[in-house]
Amino acid sequence: TGKTAFIAGVGDDKGFGWAIAKRLNQAGATVLVGTWPPVYDMFKKILERGKLDTALDDGGTLEIADVFPLDAVYDTMKDVPREVRESKRYAQHAVFALEETAKAVKKKYGKIDILVHALANGPEVHKDLLETSREGYLTAFSTSAYSLVSLVQKFGPVMNEGGSVVSLTYLAADGTVPGYGGGMGAAKAALQSDTRTLAFEAGRKWNIRVNTISAGPLRSRAARAIGFIDKAVKYSMANAPLTQDFTADHVGTAATFLLSPLAGAITGTTMYVDNGLHSMAMAP
Ligand code: NAI
Repeated sequence: TGKTAFIAGVGDDKGFGWAIAKRLNQAGATVLVGTWPPVYDMFKKILERGKLDTALDDGGTLEIADVFPLDAVYDTMKDVPREVRESKRYAQHAVFALEETAKAVKKKYGKIDILVHALANGPEVHKDLLETSREGYLTAFSTSAYSLVSLVQKFGPVMNEGGSVVSLTYLAADGTVPGYGGGMGAAKAALQSDTRTLAFEAGRKWNIRVNTISAGPLRSRAARAIGFIDKAVKYSMANAPLTQDFTADHVGTAATFLLSPLAGAITGTTMYVDNGLHSMAMAP
């Protein structure tokens, strides 16, 4: 209650970012989101027209206080190539890089308490590693792993002491998941490793906590684009300890715990929220 949260990576009502927004709002937080410029107009439109699933578990309605344009591959506006800055989806926004977005959030809402990284992109995710180009691999790392490092660098100074950061990772960091290619498995492994190092450095520097959630398979927009999501959902159903449907809200509730004072001594961890699939070493 009374806290302010910034969630980077919300573009519709199907993904983990949205589910986390709902649970944080229900717990009393003011929710600000960062939306990728290519999907910004569409998201604003359906949000304003009331076309998104805003129903909270307690009967209330999700209120998003503000939508900031954000492209997490740019650390400062100086890094944005001219052709991007002048392109259709970007030209209307004065700022959308991480540093300027953090400053804009601070200016309008003061210091924040909660920071969520719910974004990833790997242009060659559908390709085997043996077919992945250097550029595809490095883009996966830039968008999906370094973006967390930069997010914490830029937002750390505008966070209150005792604040908390959560990101999303995937089991492909720990073992081979055929079909999750393009270097995305390694990018998630980097994200988990960086979570430990950022927990130490940001803990000492600003007294904030940093954790990541390894989530089960969800039919989000990003996952549908990868193509193997139905296979992953089926595999999880057949092999995980729990056979209930895995939902985005399972991650929403776990993230809200990690982001709350209830998790006050938890930092640097990867928490598995996946019906237990990670714990199996042999199919049942
Ligand atoms: P999603 O499609 O709802 O979220 C991804 C968001 O990232 C989208 O809103 C997209 O516009 C945004 N985005 C892409 N590139 C961006 C950039 N350069 N700057 C800013 N935003 C950008 O999909 P989902 O699945 O909820 O993804 C959220 C996180 O959950 C990701 O880190 C993903 O890897 C992770 N995850 C997803 C799983 C799944 O099965 N869906 C499983 C485990 C982890």
